[in-house]
Amino acid sequence: MLTEEIQHLKKESEKDFSSVESSKELEELRIKYLSRNGLLSHLFEALKEVPKEEKPQVGKNLNELRNSLTEKFNLLKSNLEKSDYTSKEKIDLTLPGTIRKIGSKHIIIQTLDEIKSIFKGMGFSVFEGPELESDFNNFEALNFPPDHPARDMQDTFFISKDFLLRTHTSPVQIRIMNRFKPPVRAIIPGLCYRNEAISTRSYCVFHQVEGLYVDTDVTFAELKGTLVSFAKQFYMEELKYRFRPSFFPFTEPSAEMDITCFICKGEGCRVCKNSGWLEILGCGMVDPNVFENVGYDPEMFTGYAFGMGIERIALLKYGIDDIRKLYENDLRFLKQF
Ligand code: PHE
Repeated sequence: MLTEEIQHLKKESEKDFSSVESSKELEELRIKYLSRNGLLSHLFEALKEVPKEEKPQVGKNLNELRNSLTEKFNLLKSNLEKSDYTSKEKIDLTLPGTIRKIGSKHIIIQTLDEIKSIFKGMGFSVFEGPELESDFNNFEALNFPPDHPARDMQDTFFISKDFLLRTHTSPVQIRIMNRFKPPVRAIIPGLCYRNEAISTRSYCVFHQVEGLYVDTDVTFAELKGTLVSFAKQFYMEELKYRFRPSFFPFTEPSAEMDITCFICKGEGCRVCKNSGWLEILGCGMVDPNVFENVGYDPEMFTGYAFGMGIERIALLKYGIDDIRKLYENDLRFLKQF
């Protein structure tokens, strides 16, 4: 009889203890099983009535049950206390979280992205070339003869006699034409270096976007059309423009493009030095000598090229007065864009 009751109590208590979730429930179980008036006490009471021969065995079973229940109780108690401590002392769900600073694109990269997407829309692919260039690609193949004064236009950081940090993105024109047969239509964004006195207007490092289009019947009119379309998309739809004759060794004829100052809309202001015009890029028809240097037949192909400085564009567009701010990485400045 009593043996069966012990078995029954064992099962029932296992079920009860396995579902405890709070200190309050645990306390209720302690009262139910382990207190002076609890179920175990009643069984110990009943032990007195058990015949002498069975007593040692039944007593042993009862003791085992009490020990195992006490052990379970103690274990659950300490676990619950620990988790109470965690929830009370360690996690305060009402505290504001840690705000992480998220990086963003530098305005130069934003400007580059915008320029790239406009030219991609007009059928140009994007190419890149190395910043460490040969003297040959940077100057000679672009029709700067050795010792020609035109080289003085660009103060160069030489690495050795034959290698340098490129002074413009134009050497990538040579790389593209050496690799592909016409037609080629590409823009080339990238970093350039010049050994210039650093001031509010010039810095030793800067970005350019180069453009190159070569095919059998490319004309100056197409060059103008493409650049005007770009300028209207990038600056403003209603702009006026003009092309002034200029000189670059690798283009003939060469020109510089001006647009109406988009700050004062042509009225004249500090930014355009009261002229109403802003110079935005250099361009021209690819010189036949350059075609010969890359093995293109100048009788068969014509092409145009253009190049623009990105820092200048970004300074104008965002109304920034000192180019050095673009390279100082001062978060107070960068966060504004
Ligand atoms: N490479 C020239 C410069 O750095 C710009 C340019 C590119 C001019 C292509 C004409 C054609 O000033």
